[in-house]
Amino acid sequence: MVSDRLFTIREEGDAVVILDQSLLPHQYVTRHLKSLADAAHAIRAMLVRGAPLIGVAAAYGVALALKEGAGDESLQHACDTLAATRPTAVNLHWALTRMQRHLRPLPVAQRRAAAWAEARAIAAADAAANRAIGAHGLALIERIAHRPASLMTHCNAGWLATAAWGTALAPVYAAREAGLPVHVYVSETRPRNQGLLTAWELHEAHIPHTLIADNAAGLLLRQGKVDLVIVGADRIAANGDTANKVGTYLKALAAADCGVPFYVAAPTSTIDMACPGGEDIPIEARAGEEVRHVVGLDRHGTPAAVAIAPEATAVANPAFDVTPARLITGIVTERGVLPPGDIRTWFK
Ligand code: MRU
Repeated sequence: MVSDRLFTIREEGDAVVILDQSLLPHQYVTRHLKSLADAAHAIRAMLVRGAPLIGVAAAYGVALALKEGAGDESLQHACDTLAATRPTAVNLHWALTRMQRHLRPLPVAQRRAAAWAEARAIAAADAAANRAIGAHGLALIERIAHRPASLMTHCNAGWLATAAWGTALAPVYAAREAGLPVHVYVSETRPRNQGLLTAWELHEAHIPHTLIADNAAGLLLRQGKVDLVIVGADRIAANGDTANKVGTYLKALAAADCGVPFYVAAPTSTIDMACPGGEDIPIEARAGEEVRHVVGLDRHGTPAAVAIAPEATAVANPAFDVTPARLITGIVTERGVLPPGDIRTWFK
């Protein structure tokens, strides 16, 4: 999934180049991040998004920050600034902790080069973990009796959301490599419409898919049109409760009612063993503006935002919800597939 055009993040000299996901799928634009401020803005404004990619971008943000000085104070300031960008995806905090642990014991003069190397290692480890998630998830798809296997996903947990391969979509890409036909129902994912990113990814990979309004998911599950639901995660608590893009919980409820297996795919860096349960996961509240407007192309093909509600309309915009462990069939990580209640065993 990584090519000259299809990449999420890469180094270029002493800058970091990202694909600006806030403009996709309508415009393909890359941006150069040159400073801590650039990296923090890219995460906060969702130019980069998706839990694993946020972690990788934060690690590179530390490397960019140390250009200005690599003492303890600079390092702490960089980590504090990046940690404050988005609250729910634990990969952000995981990556910053890993950077701190690696850099703190080093002499200041060595920290800058070491920060780039560690950020690179975090990106490579994410790609490798997602590749392994693909292999474990493929086994789940292989068990489905008919072809094409019919999957449903929510939001975007594809390569765009990671260093490479994706999490929930990694098994889809593995199935394609194995010559196993799949079809994916992709829910739009209001208000930010990350489902459009998933549709774009699948279109680029020539994988059959159908875009649906979020509210259509229950009917399709009820009609027996879905064999398996697979989504990503922003934080998995120690008891298996999982935060993911808002709307995930409704899909899990409908899947449970219809007897359709519901899987969560994420690298172990998304599991927060310090977080006992779903009620302890911080849920990001985003601007009402995102709900009051839709973004698309106007009739001349120019990107445009259109208001769909008056400015004065009160809006609640929680970006994530929590799916209780009891609604999750299994958690797929690079280490295998386990029922949510058993994930502690990966950390013993
Ligand atoms: O707000 P976003 O777009 O960063 O949210 C993304 C999601 O909720 C994804 O499903 C999750 O991060 C998993 S990405 C592999």
